[in-house]
Amino acid sequence: MYHHQNVFSFLWYYAKQHLWGFAFTGFAMLVWAVNEALFPYFIKQIIEKLATHDRLTSSWEIVGGPLGGLVGLWLTMDVFMRAQGAVAVRMMPKFCQKIRQDAFWQVTGHSQQFFVTHFSGNVANKINDLPRGAEYLVEQVLTAFIPILFMFCLSMVLMGQVSLLFTIVTIVWFCLHVLVVSLNVGGVTRSASQLADATSHVSGKIVDALTNILSMRLFARRAHELSYFNLAQAEEAQRRGDARARVVFLNMLLGGLTFLLIAVTMGLLIYGWQEGWVSIGDFSLISMLVFSLVGLIWHLSFEMSSFFKEIGLIKAALSILRTPYAIEEKENAPSLEVKEGIITFDHVTFGYHGKDGALFKDLSLHIPAGQKVGLVGFSGSGKTSFANLIVRAFDPQDGKILVDGSDIKEVRYESLARAIAFIPQDPTLFHRTLKENIRYGRLEASDDEVYSAAALAHADLFIKALKDGYDTSVGERGLKLSGGQRQRIAIARAALKNAPILILDEATSALDSVTERLIQDSLHEIMQGRTTLVIAHRLSTLQDMDRILVFDKGRIIEDGSCETLLSKKGVFYQLWQMQSEGFLPDSAI
Ligand SMILES: Nc1ncnc2c1ncn2[C@@H]1O[C@H](COP(=O)(O)OP(=O)(O)O)[C@@H](O)[C@H]1O
Ligand SMILES: [Mg+2]
Repeated sequence: MYHHQNVFSFLWYYAKQHLWGFAFTGFAMLVWAVNEALFPYFIKQIIEKLATHDRLTSSWEIVGGPLGGLVGLWLTMDVFMRAQGAVAVRMMPKFCQKIRQDAFWQVTGHSQQFFVTHFSGNVANKINDLPRGAEYLVEQVLTAFIPILFMFCLSMVLMGQVSLLFTIVTIVWFCLHVLVVSLNVGGVTRSASQLADATSHVSGKIVDALTNILSMRLFARRAHELSYFNLAQAEEAQRRGDARARVVFLNMLLGGLTFLLIAVTMGLLIYGWQEGWVSIGDFSLISMLVFSLVGLIWHLSFEMSSFFKEIGLIKAALSILRTPYAIEEKENAPSLEVKEGIITFDHVTFGYHGKDGALFKDLSLHIPAGQKVGLVGFSGSGKTSFANLIVRAFDPQDGKILVDGSDIKEVRYESLARAIAFIPQDPTLFHRTLKENIRYGRLEASDDEVYSAAALAHADLFIKALKDGYDTSVGERGLKLSGGQRQRIAIARAALKNAPILILDEATSALDSVTERLIQDSLHEIMQGRTTLVIAHRLSTLQDMDRILVFDKGRIIEDGSCETLLSKKGVFYQLWQMQSEGFLPDSAI
């Protein structure tokens, strides 16, 4: 579980892994603050000495002390700042990398269903928002907020030595400034996080449109897509306007306050000079400090809006990342050791939208070790869902699914996945080379093993014909390959995996009948000694199965060997009759 309850605990979790680096940064910035506050103080001393000595005295004797102090302090500050820069060069990239790595790990722990409801482009943005925001916030706190506040306190002490009036005026200004900012903080943060949501929504729309570029072009729907896209954009534009307006309003209030501070301080300085309690040096000290403070605090207020924007972004990212996994793994769950490959459905009830109107109701079934089972039924009858339950793409609401006697909910998810080779209906490939895609089945497989798996899946011929052969990149989601080629890569990958349970979900549906017939032999070879479920789109491929299950609206209405079911003259027989050359006619599907 991603356990960070709020932005602070999230930042602290990662910052404390570089405690010394951040502590050094903090210290170096305090040196900077001391320099910033004492600089006007040394200048004041120099001015006063120059004003009270005549030009004949050696100038070094007059100003040597304060000038030495000024230069010494400046050099010290400079050394610390460079050292801090060097520390940050090493530390910040690691800090960001760790945050991104954990976010990636957290997100990829979600089951497929999560990505049905969350655009992947959107989620990818969130993963990037986290390190960027964290880097910004931590740096702002350490290199701006804390040192500037420290410098503020030192300045108050220095001003107080001239007259408490200046300290009081500046503190009152500062309090009003903080009051105005805090009154506006809620609104600024809220509008920033709404803007972030709207922006990711827009990214999601872009990805969705690009993913469906083929349909978009074939139906000549660019203009339609643009207007659809602009709907999402309009929302974003409004939010962006809101967020900006709030910042403009805030800056207006702060600008007025700052003007007042400068006017009052200048008035007081001139008045004090006339009255004799402000020296020429004090004049310089106070005005330098006030201008320096105004610049720095003004900078902070400007950063405030970005600061809260980043807090909003991190909050939004954390709330997505904190979404509990739909498929949870028990803590310290044991590994599943599959020796036989027995699959049992024990009174399973499962519906995509809860128990009401469930797809499977109280379904019980036993598949013994090594049995080859064909799953048949019209489209939407629940075959893929049945297979998905075995790989825990979803958990049933009631009942248990057991593999070799172990409830699959009670074992480590990875061990279950290792035991099953699953070829999905529409396999997608990584944007990597063919060799890498096939080797995905078993990362430690040798090149020769990869080649023979490809040969088994009758993929070697087309691969060798490509210019770069096995090193050809397949494009995003494998789109540079045809559907049938992708299926063969998926078969090769599954063959390489060498798992005790094999599930083929219409694994050859995109192949021409000649290639499919060739592959059937290979598939039989792959099935040897494994429990196999074959969801068939062509009934002729089921003749060698030990058992056929006929699905209808989530119920298994027939269960038996091919011959038994044919002689029973039930639904399977009718399907068999309807097929011409082994296909189900389109009207039936
Ligand atoms: N991810 C999903 N979310 C909600 N409903 C789904 C999902 N996948 C499938 N269904 C529904 O479940 C039913 C069975 O679908 P499926 O198992 O894919 O059938 P088959 O593989 O036999 O064609 C269908 O009515 C389908 O609309
Ligand atoms: Mg299906």
